[in-house]
Amino acid sequence: MSTSTSAERTLVLIKPDALRRGLLGEILGRFERKGLAIDALVLRDMDAALADEHYAEHVDKGFYPPLKEFMTGGPLVAAVLSGDQAIEVVRLLVGATDGRKAAAGTIRGDLSLSNRENLVHASDSPDSAKREIALWFPELS
Ligand code: TYD
Ligand code: MG
Repeated sequence: MSTSTSAERTLVLIKPDALRRGLLGEILGRFERKGLAIDALVLRDMDAALADEHYAEHVDKGFYPPLKEFMTGGPLVAAVLSGDQAIEVVRLLVGATDGRKAAAGTIRGDLSLSNRENLVHASDSPDSAKREIALWFPELS
C-alpha cells in the first residue's frame, strides 16, 4: 500500500448470509470503527439481472450459478464507504475470499467458514469501484 494520502470511495455489499445471521451491525461497526465514512447505504434485493451485471467477470465460471442463487436469495445491504485509500483498506478488513483461509482479525477470517457465503463483497480496484458504484448508486456518479 502506498504511503501517500488519497481519499477514495469503494462499494461494499453486506451479503444475505450476514443479514440472515444478524451480523449487519457487527460488520458495519468494523468499517465505522476503522474511520471510514458511509456515503450511501440501502437495503435491497439483488435480482438476476443485477447479479449478472455486478459479477460480469464471473458469469461464465462454474461457481457462478450457486453464487447467483445465494446472492439473490435474500436482502442485502449495499453501501458506499469513503476514506483514505478506502478500496485497499476495505479489502484488508474483509480478508481473503475463502473464510476458512482468511486471516484471523478480518471479517471473513473471524466470521465465515465458507468460500461462497463470505459475508461481504468489496470493490477490488479503482476501476471496479467506479463501475460498481455507478451500478448500485447511479445518483452518486
Ligand atoms: P472473487 O471476486 O474471486 O472473490 P472476492 O469476493 O474476494 O473478490 O469471487 C466473487 C465471489 O464469488 C466470492 O466472494 C465468493 C464466490 N466464489 C465462490 O463461490 N467460489 C469460488 O471458488 C470463488 C473463487 C468465489
Ligand atoms: Mg472480487
